[in-house]
This record gives sequence, structure tokens and C-alpha cells, in this order.
Amino acid sequence: MKKIIKNGRIVTDSQVFKGDILIENGIIAAIGDTLSDPDAEIIDASEKYVLPGAVDVHTHMDLQAGKYRAVDDFYTGTVAAACGGTTSIVDHMAFGPKGCSLWHQVEEYHRLADGNAVVDYGFHGVIQHVTPSVLKEMEEISDNEGITSFKIYMTYDFMLKDDEIYQVLKKAKEAGIVIAVHCENDGVLNYLRKTYVEQGLTQPKYHPLSRPARCEAEAINRMLHLAAIAGGAPLYIVHLSSKEGLLEVQKAKASHQKHFAVETCTQYLTLTDSLYQDDQEGLKAIMSPPLRKEEDTQALWQALKDDVIDVVATDHCPFLFAGDKQAGAKNFTACPNGAPGVEERLRVLFSEGVMKGRITLPQMVKYLCTNPCRMYGLYPQKGTLLPGSDADIVILDPTKSRVLTHTDMHGACDYTCYEGWKVKGDIELVMLRGNVIVKDNHFLGEKGCGNYLKRQKSILV
Ligand code: URP
Ligand code: ZN
Ligand code: ZN
Repeated sequence: MKKIIKNGRIVTDSQVFKGDILIENGIIAAIGDTLSDPDAEIIDASEKYVLPGAVDVHTHMDLQAGKYRAVDDFYTGTVAAACGGTTSIVDHMAFGPKGCSLWHQVEEYHRLADGNAVVDYGFHGVIQHVTPSVLKEMEEISDNEGITSFKIYMTYDFMLKDDEIYQVLKKAKEAGIVIAVHCENDGVLNYLRKTYVEQGLTQPKYHPLSRPARCEAEAINRMLHLAAIAGGAPLYIVHLSSKEGLLEVQKAKASHQKHFAVETCTQYLTLTDSLYQDDQEGLKAIMSPPLRKEEDTQALWQALKDDVIDVVATDHCPFLFAGDKQAGAKNFTACPNGAPGVEERLRVLFSEGVMKGRITLPQMVKYLCTNPCRMYGLYPQKGTLLPGSDADIVILDPTKSRVLTHTDMHGACDYTCYEGWKVKGDIELVMLRGNVIVKDNHFLGEKGCGNYLKRQKSILV
């Protein structure tokens, strides 16, 4: 069935223009001033914005984190994504059993996602130890599965040491693979956590104090140097949270270091560590890195305005407030880390970013849609509105508004960090490959309608 979206204000990462979009067989067939086709269903988008479906390249669906499991699986989490205008995700795998082959988690994640996801989905591999066979598997998995990026951690139980990181980076450079990194200085933050607990200082407000911004900055700085030592290995820094970390990024950009990209997340732009002052509310925002100060949010917005940051993702990783999060009520170190966000991202960015004049509409499209695809080998199939691209499309009405509340949301979590926020603009319709999967906040798709995405190489390689 053909469709024409008529009279919309079409938004790409570089411009906004009035026009029509013809969709045929799930693909954008043409974009023009006045398109017509007697066989096409007409969707009127007058006075509305027509955006590429958003792409979230940092989610943790069905994550097993120690003894806790994130509450959104690939079905509920991707229904939430779809209702928030996100039509593709690239999910970060959990660690597997100690010493496992990289294939273990690839197979596990296909079991979790295939037949469940309702938006298109890919995976980042995870490297939790380094051996010659792991290095070989990186290339095999990239070539055979289209998993062209792998995640490493500089903290947590399966963190890599610098010599291991160096070997991974060398391999990544050679094989054209992107290494996504969680950057925090493990030694210092664990010492601080232990010290707070020993003193009985265990409320949520000690969580940000135990993970100072300079722990992030030091690790980013080290990681950038390690990537350079490895000959310019393709690097992607996840969830930048602080102005100190940003400074390291700016220094590397000023020194013309290439082959790296930087992501921040909605929460680091819009929420602050003041949330931790309330013992119960603070639990909802226990995540790593922690929320920072107002001045950090301002620095990150400025970096988006100046094109210093490349991507805004979510790190969606929800645990029940009335359930597992309460493990942190007596001791913040016992709390599972992470918060929901996949459904909120586009609405919050449009309202807090575009409507408040902090970024332009094309910039929003660049950070939520186009750049994530460029960085992770999905462009131009995804993340843009071009003839030949998948017809993943969001129609957004800027005259509407919505009060965000978790009861109107679609994930399995029992809270949103944005409860009661009035956001300007609302999502009217979401299409995945030409099929309407969301209308007026109702999910209309079918379980399993998402396709697995075998990704190409990144522009960073
Ligand atoms: O607290 C967080 N962000 N949990 C998810 C895992 C990670 O570090 O990204
Ligand atoms: Zn992380
Ligand atoms: Zn994460």
C-alpha cells in the first residue's frame, strides 16, 4: 500500500522545508513539492513537523545486572521506544558468564529480542576479558552479524585494564570496529564508595559524591590517549555527564584528534543532582555516571549548540521504584543503577531543547536520528528522510503539549524521572517501514514487528 504524507514541514539534519513524502513498499520513494498518486493513502501533515524516526543507540533492554534484571524486555521497552518516536535501537548487551566467548551474548541477545522487538534493533557486542580468541571473535561477529561496535567498561566487575583496552583498540583499528566506552576511574570511585559506607553515609545523596566528575574526566582523557596510541582507533564515548569530561573532549577536538564521537543522554541535559537530596526520590535517579549540577547541564547544551557532542541517547535501564530500587534505600551502593528514558527522549529534547531555543530543529534531528546512524553504520537506511531510506517517520504537532506521567507511558517501569513535566509539542503518528505503529500515544504494531539490523561500518573507522 502506498502512502503520501502531504504538506508537512520536513526536517533533516540540515534544513526544514515544506513538501510531500511518497512511501512505497516501506521505503521513501520520493520527496517533492506536490506529489500525487491515485492509489496512495493520504496522510495530512499540514502545520506539523515530519521527522525521521529517532534512533536510540544506548539502551539496556532485559539487562541482567548482577542479581537484578531491568524491567523492560525487548517487547515492553520497544513499545515504549515506539510511542516516544524511536523506531530503531542499538542495545548494549549485558555481561555474560565469566570467561564466556563473545558469541555467547550474541546468541543470548537474539533469543531475547527476536520475535519480541517492535522497532528495528541491533546490538553492540560486549568485551569483558581479552584473549587472542576474543580478539578474533570481534572480527568474526562484525563480519557475520553486522555487530560493528563493541562496548567496554572502565569500571564495574568486568572492566578492562589499560593493557587489555589497548589490545582491543588495536584490533578495532585493524578491523574497522567502533569501541564504545563507559569512562569512569574505577579505583577512586570504589575507594570513595567504600569510605562512605564505612562511615555510615549511605543515603542516595552520597551516590554523586562517590562518583566525582573528575573520575569521568580522567577516564575520558585516558581513553582518548589510549585510542591515539593504538593508531587512531574508532572510539565512541557513552553518556558524557559533566563539564569536566566535556573539557577533555574539547581538548581532543582542538588538537584535531579524529575517529571519535561523544554521546550524552537526555537526563544529563535536563536533570540535576538536587534530586538526590530526597532519600526516596533520589533512588529513582541512581545511575552511573550520576546526575550533575545545573552548570554541567548548561555546558552540555552549549556543546550541542556548538556541535561538540555528536549524539543524544538515553541509557534506558529501568528498575522498579517499588521493587529493586528500594534495595538502595538503606545503602546507595546496593541499588541497581539505571533509569527509564527511551520514551521520554524526543518529547523532552523538543520541548527543552528546540522550544527553549537551546538547539535548532535540524540539530535535534542530527543528534537523535542522523548522527547515531552515521556513528553506528545505519545511515542512510535509517536516521534521515531521503529517497531509498526506510520510511521510519514521526509526525510531531508543535501546537500540542503533554504532561508527562508514567501512567500514560508504555514501558514496564513504575516511574518516570519527568513526572509532571509539561512538554510542548506532541507525537501524533509514528511509522516503521511505512506501517503506522503509533497513533496519538496508542501502540498499533504487533509483537515482533521489529527487524534485526545488520549494521555497516561506522563513519568513524
Ligand atoms: O547506571 C547505568 N547507567 N546503568 C546502565 C549501565 C551503564 O553503565 O550504562
Ligand atoms: Zn555506562
Ligand atoms: Zn548504559
